[in-house]
Amino acid sequence: MAPGTRSLPGSNLPQPRCGVPPTQSLMQNRQAVDLSKAYRLLNHGPTVLVSSAHQGARNVMAAAWSMPLDFSPPKICVVIDRNTFTRELIDASGEFALNIPSRQLAGATLAVGSTSGREGDKFAALDLRTFAAEKIAAPLLEGCVGWLECRVVAEPHIQRQYDLFIGEVVAAWADPSAFKDGHWSFAPGSARSIHYIAGGNFFETGEAFEVEQERLKES
Ligand SMILES: Cc1cc2nc3c(=O)[nH]c(=O)nc-3n(C[C@H](O)[C@H](O)[C@H](O)COP(=O)(O)O)c2cc1C
Repeated sequence: MAPGTRSLPGSNLPQPRCGVPPTQSLMQNRQAVDLSKAYRLLNHGPTVLVSSAHQGARNVMAAAWSMPLDFSPPKICVVIDRNTFTRELIDASGEFALNIPSRQLAGATLAVGSTSGREGDKFAALDLRTFAAEKIAAPLLEGCVGWLECRVVAEPHIQRQYDLFIGEVVAAWADPSAFKDGHWSFAPGSARSIHYIAGGNFFETGEAFEVEQERLKES
């Protein structure tokens, strides 16, 4: 498709409702995730919130198109459309964070994915609370279950051609009630990640199960 004409997840949405209920203020419970296990935060394909900042400006947008890319040093990739304010801030700062929201933030996810930070501060408008990242300037969002702090690995061709950004994960965090010792462990009824379909519809991550590898028949 011609540049700029790609249909993005979240496009063609109805206008977001104003006055999305504010998220609760909470002391964010988080633990460092070993960088060798950071890929597991994204392995199951959650929808993320991309936060960014540059010279006093800050922003957040939704992204359904992200995935792990490498183990060591850990890298992820995410599509950041060229027309977004987020893209402007990431191009200028070379940094961004992927925040992994739970259902509690689904309304806000839709809202930050349907409006631009060029029109005003979405954190303030949606009462989204943040805390400081360790290695980058972009703020991290409270109420999420995981966070990946990333520095852009410059790949100008794929950035320009496909709006695809590679980030090296320089710090990773998780809410220990959801991710511990390198594994997601969503207790029944507890906060878990979400997955975007289209038109305001999401799945919530389901129950985990383990299988034994089946043996191949001998031929
Ligand atoms: C659930 C959801 C997922 C989205 N996924 C992506 C994505 O992967 N990449 C992208 O560039 N835009 C995606 N969008 C659209 C951006 O979030 C949207 O363009 C946003 O308004 C950009 O905000 P900004 O201009 O403040 O950066 C998504 C929107 C929604 C609602």
